[in-house]
Amino acid sequence: MGKTILITGGAGFIGSHVVRLFVNKYPQYKIVNLDALTYAGNLENLRDVENAPNYEFVKGDITDGDFIQKLFADYTFDGVLHLAAESHVDRSIANPMEFIMTNIVGTVNLLNAARHAWDGNFEDKRFYHISTDEVYGSLGDTGFFTEETAYDPRSPYSASKASSDHLVRAYFHTYKLPVVLSNCSNNYGPNQFPEKLIPLAINNIENNRPIPIYGKGENIRDWLYVVDHARAIDVVYHQGVLGETYNIGGNNEWTNIDLIHVLCEVMDKKLGREPGTSAKLITFVKDRAGHDLRYAIDATKIKNDLDWEPSLQFPEGIERTVEWYLNNKEWMINITSGTYQEYYDKQYTER
Ligand code: NAD
Ligand code: TYD
Repeated sequence: MGKTILITGGAGFIGSHVVRLFVNKYPQYKIVNLDALTYAGNLENLRDVENAPNYEFVKGDITDGDFIQKLFADYTFDGVLHLAAESHVDRSIANPMEFIMTNIVGTVNLLNAARHAWDGNFEDKRFYHISTDEVYGSLGDTGFFTEETAYDPRSPYSASKASSDHLVRAYFHTYKLPVVLSNCSNNYGPNQFPEKLIPLAINNIENNRPIPIYGKGENIRDWLYVVDHARAIDVVYHQGVLGETYNIGGNNEWTNIDLIHVLCEVMDKKLGREPGTSAKLITFVKDRAGHDLRYAIDATKIKNDLDWEPSLQFPEGIERTVEWYLNNKEWMINITSGTYQEYYDKQYTER
């Protein structure tokens, strides 16, 4: 008999790529996508799979414990892939409480519901919690985060994700809930909400608006193409060892300023602009509070144990990403109308 799998946050950036992969690759599974459709959730991301016979969308909020208990009673889930979260560091600085509610309380609601629904019968069951490398804190110029690195979260976002990771592990040790976790580096690619650096810059370059770079642009991130993250999630879900954590990364570190220069070159080419035109839009603005200097992942474990590696190199990934945004202007227009503008003005015009 086919399995029924709950994916939370499936209308968001990474979640939509995971839903697409699972719906297409596993026709024998029924995929239930639970999403509250916050500002970051967008069913446009899933137009190509919305009529698939093995796909169902449920609108609902993971902070509502009664609703979550009922959902688990109505469906018999064999597995959970938990991606729903508040995900943007700047928003967490402005408004931490939403992060506490969704990322911590929401995760515990799901853990409780799974525990009660499965009632000690954990055979073939699996609760997969998707997390971030930001829980490990900030690196200096050298070193990498391994699965053994002590947690040291430094923003309300990363602290809320760290808290949820600890709770997931606590349910494994205390109740034997069959969990698996992964912590991934920065993702980029189609469907990312334009509050994040790369789509924000693409949108601003296209519209000849300043590209805001926090501080001196010296902060370093490790970037992974989102489809490669979805592939890793597939592998961890199916082959990861229960109770274990897997770090996922792109082996692809960039300072923000170097990354934006590459992006500007690609944009000049794709938009038929003189080389150097887009880079003139680069504008240094006030730094983010508590801005982590560097994140870098050691992804040896997932490579050795589960045979996963990124498939796409950065130059190709960034070209594909730019092409997707330039070919999907309606998507960007729809998402940036309304409340996005209020957010943008507050975040950037007062800097
Ligand atoms: P996103 O903000 O694009 O999407 C989050 C989704 O969760 C949205 O569809 C939103 O509607 C939904 N959601 C938010 N609050 C909810 C609630 N209370 N109930 C139900 N649904 C709710 O986020 P993303 O970038 O796709 O990240 C997905 C997951 O991956 C998150 O857990 C994030 O911490 C993790 N992660 C992200 C990155 C990254 O670079 N974006 C890297 C590593 C890990
Ligand atoms: P972001 O995409 O918000 O991801 P995260 O903070 O989770 O790593 O930011 C990536 C990097 O880019 C981070 O160092 C902050 C920086 N940044 C800017 O310089 N300007 C911006 O407008 C944004 C959104 C981010």
